[in-house]
Amino acid sequence: MISPIRWNGEAVAVELLDQTQLPVKEVWLTLTSPNEMAEAIEMLRVRGAPAIGIAAAYGVVLALRAATSAPHETAIRAIDFLGHTRPTAVNLSWSLARMRAVVTACGAPDQSRLREALLSEARAIEAEDRAAGRKLGEYGLSLLRDGMTVLTHCHTGGVATSGYGTALAPFILGAQVGVQLSAYVDETRPLLQGSRITAWELAKAGVEATLITDSMAGHVMRDKRVDAIIVGADRIAANGDVANKIGTYALAVLARVHTIPFYVSAPLSTLDLAMPSGGDIVIEERAADEITHGFGRQTAPVGISVYNPAFDITPAEYVSAIITECGVVRPPYAQTLQELA
Ligand code: MRU
Repeated sequence: MISPIRWNGEAVAVELLDQTQLPVKEVWLTLTSPNEMAEAIEMLRVRGAPAIGIAAAYGVVLALRAATSAPHETAIRAIDFLGHTRPTAVNLSWSLARMRAVVTACGAPDQSRLREALLSEARAIEAEDRAAGRKLGEYGLSLLRDGMTVLTHCHTGGVATSGYGTALAPFILGAQVGVQLSAYVDETRPLLQGSRITAWELAKAGVEATLITDSMAGHVMRDKRVDAIIVGADRIAANGDVANKIGTYALAVLARVHTIPFYVSAPLSTLDLAMPSGGDIVIEERAADEITHGFGRQTAPVGISVYNPAFDITPAEYVSAIITECGVVRPPYAQTLQELA
């Protein structure tokens, strides 16, 4: 298990694995303020829906590192500020809502008591996510069999969470318990979370993995090389529509055409029952230079207009099952997700 976020109590700081440096270097950053945490989230140094939520929770604790005469107001300012870093993953607003509730419940204007209460909540959010990851692995394996080849997209492993991951959890747990899955790994344009991080993490876990570019996925499905597809999610609406990394929707449509099961694996913290359908989910748009100057090299003419949505919506009708830490749900999701929650 690789945990990308560590609380350093002695330094009152967060140690963060800088995911932008992977797979070449494993660089750990020391963050000491909500501003530094916000920068890390926006720049994808920490990324993946659950990891963003955990990191932001610790970011709130950092707001009370230095003495302040108004600790409650300082913490609330940090919560509001961190909440604006990335719009699509609901885990961010979910974890910050928990931190806000702690501030509200902690009546005494005592900075160290509030800081301890916030730290304890951040630790709880992290621990719950780690336990959920293990269950996601177990429930994921209940849908898969030894020897299967499973295609996955983006990165949904330990460093996108606090341990096992979401969609990668069955691969990682499977390797530990003797269920060998092999993976097709989409590189995941434009920022290559698949090739940089998924391939690195599966290699570390001893899982056989084959890297492909996103545009090869249809071909490998048509060639009957894929038994199932499993992806994570950044937000699941009440009707089962799924927001996830750009390219997920195309995979789901291809899976339907080729009668391949398409699974979504996510903790309940990714479920947003207040969001009726995917059409209402805010899709983050990122800077043009992620496409025109990916990793520093100019790959498009100067002045070209660019559209760079970071996520897409997969309609519920294409999702064979949603795997959560409390069980596997199937359509009709409007009913089964509600019952589960
Ligand atoms: O932009 P990113 O890299 O944060 O996007 C991450 C994803 O889309 C993941 O699939 C998602 O968070 C799954 S949960 C680990």
